Parts: sequence; structure tokens; C-alpha cells
Amino acid sequence: MYLVLLGPPGAGKGTQAQHLSAVLGVPKVSTGDLLRRHVDAQTPLGVKAARYMAAGELVPDDVVTGMLITRLGEADAVAGAIFDGFPRTIAQAHALDDVLRIRGGDLAAVLHFNLVDPAVVGRVEGRRVCPVDGSVYHLQFAPPRSPHRCDLCGGPLIHRNDDTAAVVVDRLAEYRRKTEPVEALYQDRGLLCDIDADQPAGHVTRDVMALLMPCSGDPRRVNA
Ligand code: AP5
Repeated sequence: MYLVLLGPPGAGKGTQAQHLSAVLGVPKVSTGDLLRRHVDAQTPLGVKAARYMAAGELVPDDVVTGMLITRLGEADAVAGAIFDGFPRTIAQAHALDDVLRIRGGDLAAVLHFNLVDPAVVGRVEGRRVCPVDGSVYHLQFAPPRSPHRCDLCGGPLIHRNDDTAAVVVDRLAEYRRKTEPVEALYQDRGLLCDIDADQPAGHVTRDVMALLMPCSGDPRRVNA
């Protein structure tokens, strides 16, 4: 089972990918999370990626694609993956085609999470994350039990440095310029499934599961 989750910043891709991973038994592969791990560890890849991420720009395709291929080589990804935030350019989409061809897999669906810009800003400004275990909260929509503390580990929550109103404008512009053509590519292939992301997270999950139910035990395309 291979799924792609597309959508603007803060649309809820990571939230839904987490759930889908548990239900479908394949890992969530988030290029944003992988990049942040490299940045935190100050690897050469992380040092290169950091300035793009802080500016709300996409990291170069070769860097991201190489990192993704390495991740897919890990044992837990043998049976599939839920791609959260990849591909984001046409070049990445073609690279994914090549990777899946080699692995003998097909995309079951591309879930496209729709959210209007004002809601995007509210989602990212209110997001808080745990740097230790990766838990994601929202001050209004998914608040931690204790203010600014992770429910799981009790550690302090942080506000991502690209989760500001100023940077999100650039992230949205980058999305329009480079990722909307990817939506069109998958639309042409009959794989794109629109999801209304402007509703409570549980309702989004319900819609996603209703969409995927026919193929949850079958790796063929949802729209086939
Ligand atoms: P990345 O980390 O992928 O960021 P993004 O795509 O901008 O997505 P977000 O993580 O902001 O949001 P999300 O849709 O996962 O929402 P979430 O579930 O957290 O990328 C960051 C940067 O890395 C990029 O700018 C780029 O520089 C680089 N990068 C990454 N991938 C790359 C690639 N392939 N190529 C090149 N560069 C790449 O939810 C958001 C908030 O809303 C949370 O607080 C959550 O609790 C809350 N929430 C979720 N759902 C709901 C709901 N339904 N109702 C109310 N609140 C909700």
C-alpha cells in the first residue's frame, strides 16, 4: 500500500498520516520530519536544508529524493508507505514513479487535503510540537493537558521556526508554484482524491477512511 498525502502547510497531512499508519500497518514517511531530524543533528544534509526550510522554500529535489530512497530501504517500509509531504515537485513525482517501478508497487491514491489560506495560518500559528517524541498539538484544536508540556513525555513543546505568519506566506507561494502542478499530474492519472480538511480532525479521518475502505486490504488504485 503506497499513499501520497498532498495539501498546503497545516492542512492536517501529518495528523492523518499518523492515523493511517496505525490502521494500515505501513510507516508514515514525512520528508519534513526526516529533514528536521537532519537539521537537529546538524548533518551535512541538515546544514544544507536548514536555510531553505527557515525561508519557507523547498529543499532541492536531489537532496530530498536521496533521503527518501534511503528511508524506503528500511525494513518497516517493505510493504508500503504513507508519503506525507512528498512529492512536492514534478521532478520528485517522476522520481517516485521510478522508485515504485523498481519496488514493483503502485500508488493506491493521492489524498489531497483542501484548506483555505486563513485557516492555514491559524493551523500553523497554533501548532506546538514535542521535539523529543514528535507529538503534534494545537493550542485551540488539540491542546496538551498541561500548557506547553507534551502529554507523552512531559517535555517542553516548541513552535516550529517556519510556523510564523510571515514564513507561511512563502510556504504557500512555494506550494502554488511547485506543488499544484503535482496535483494536476495526479488528477490526470485519475489518482487525486479531494478531502475537505476544513472540519474537525475526526471528521477528516472519517472521510479518509470512507474513501480508502474499498482498498484497505487491496493495493490496487482507489479510483480504478
Ligand atoms: P513539512 O513539515 O512537510 O510541512 P508542510 O507540508 O508545510 O506541512 P505541515 O507539517 O506544516 O502541516 P501538516 O499538513 O502535516 O499539518 P499537521 O497535521 O501538522 O515541510 C516543512 C519544510 O520542509 C518545507 O517548507 C520544505 O522546506 C521542506 N520539505 C519538506 N518536504 C519537502 C519536499 N518533499 N521537497 C522539498 N522540501 C521539502 O496539522 C497542523 C496543525 O493543525 C497541528 O497543530 C494539528 O494539531 C492541527 N490540526 C490538524 N488537523 C486539524 C483539523 N482537522 N482541525 C483542526 N486542527 C487540525
